[in-house]
Amino acid sequence: MTETAQTPQHSNSMPKKQGFKEDCKKLIAAKYSIVAVPTYEDERCIQSLRELAQHGFGQNLEFYTWSITNGLVSNQGEKVPGSEDPVHAIDYIIKSKKAGIYAFKDLQKQLNPKTIRKLRDAYQELKSYYKTIFLLASETQIPADLVKEVSVLDFELPSAEELERLFEGALRNTKNAKIELSEQDKDDFVKSALGLTWDEAYHAFVRALAGRSVINRSALSVVIEEKCKIVRKEGILDYVPVDFGMQEIGGLETLKKWLSARSQFFSKEAVSFGLRAPKGVLLTGISGCGKSSCVKAISQYWRLPLMRLDMTKVYGGTAGNPEETMRRALKTVEAVAPVILWLEEIEKGVAGFNQGDGGVTARIFSSFLTWMQEKKSLVFVAATANEINQLPPELLRKGRFDEIFFVDLPTEQERTEIFKVHIQKRKHNPEKFKLVDLAKATVGFSGAEIEQIVAGGMFESFNQKRQFNDQDLYREISKTVPLSTTMAEQIKEIKRWADTRAVKAS
Ligand SMILES: Nc1ncnc2c1ncn2[C@@H]1O[C@H](COP(=O)(O)OP(=O)(O)O)[C@@H](O)[C@H]1O
Ligand SMILES: [Mg+2]
Repeated sequence: MTETAQTPQHSNSMPKKQGFKEDCKKLIAAKYSIVAVPTYEDERCIQSLRELAQHGFGQNLEFYTWSITNGLVSNQGEKVPGSEDPVHAIDYIIKSKKAGIYAFKDLQKQLNPKTIRKLRDAYQELKSYYKTIFLLASETQIPADLVKEVSVLDFELPSAEELERLFEGALRNTKNAKIELSEQDKDDFVKSALGLTWDEAYHAFVRALAGRSVINRSALSVVIEEKCKIVRKEGILDYVPVDFGMQEIGGLETLKKWLSARSQFFSKEAVSFGLRAPKGVLLTGISGCGKSSCVKAISQYWRLPLMRLDMTKVYGGTAGNPEETMRRALKTVEAVAPVILWLEEIEKGVAGFNQGDGGVTARIFSSFLTWMQEKKSLVFVAATANEINQLPPELLRKGRFDEIFFVDLPTEQERTEIFKVHIQKRKHNPEKFKLVDLAKATVGFSGAEIEQIVAGGMFESFNQKRQFNDQDLYREISKTVPLSTTMAEQIKEIKRWADTRAVKAS
């Protein structure tokens, strides 16, 4: 490579492109000095960088790794004495005469004013050479002093092709087992491991295939199970198994029609036809009227797995730095697409929006909105909110969500259906009840309250060992003071708000 002293154009993040190696190549060729790579897969990332150093350019580049325990170690295994101290290590790089790639593990955790100063020096010194320092760590958090110097590059989780190779390898390693898998089955194995790191996928496959004399589709459940465990371990994404269908929701016909019209958008055919899948829907409205139930029903209706993101945990910081947590969660979600991402009670997360949290909430929200706007993956966002007036206005702007629905207290017709649904669900015959009269007696009751009335009434009749009948329900009704009475003012406010901003779900 020829050296020119030209200063490269720097920007802080690279647009998403062909992949990690290609992106790296461009950064190195443009003489970027310092690149941060947020990843949980040190070793796989180092392997990629090593291959790049060896084969990516016209000539070999030097390749070194650094860790606090070993200091700088060359690709041939030679240690640079005294380089456990990052300041010395960086000095060595500055003085080196050769082009090279330097992969630092967890340096972010060792940053003190001296190291930060040294990195800033390195930024200046290296920018006219083909020498690039890569900072590998699970946290992207970059100190404010270094923000201008460091570019951030994503290291993607293994692709479907890579997982396919891994799966084929795991299959070859199963001795004496009879393999009864169609191409479609194999495809499903690979798909169900998407979103896992290389190691995680490897262990999931090994576990799924171990100890079987016949390997067939039934082993798939083990991979899915492993993935759910891992997604859960991450702490903020929850896989929600759904055994709940649209037919268990009374009313909300407009919403149901909207969903039904879009049920095919996530199929392979629709994608290859070039249809744009819907981005997401926001369900707002009065508590207990079926918002959460609807999200679960969409999952079953569209046959897409449901992942719930706990926003309070994101903001609470229990799972780590909030921005990093959000970033990782969205990446995991994208990798397991097609999928439904459920943001439950999204307003809880934004409670700090107007309070002094150093702008963290605002930043997470705006990066989430950008992600939603730009995402190409088949992730359908289903957000629910009770206190809609808490939401920042930019969330509600046209074009963010495909539609915003307002889920109101059920109408008389809807209450009839809700009674029917819940009586049926509990193995009784709804025809034995005067449903219309019951609906007339429950003006202002929510779906959740009607469900409670059915459950309570049944309980009494069972206790007294007699038929479950209308009287049981009326007794429960008379005991219930609906939320719409105790919270009349708030509900009026919510309705006023929704009138101009949302589509009625029923
Ligand atoms: N329209 C409805 N049809 C049937 N059941 C309903 C309906 N609305 C609410 N429910 C019942 O009330 C409970 C709470 O509803 P949920 O979906 O959690 O309400 P929200 O998320 O709006 O607060 C659910 O278990 C569900 O069975
Ligand atoms: Mg809810």
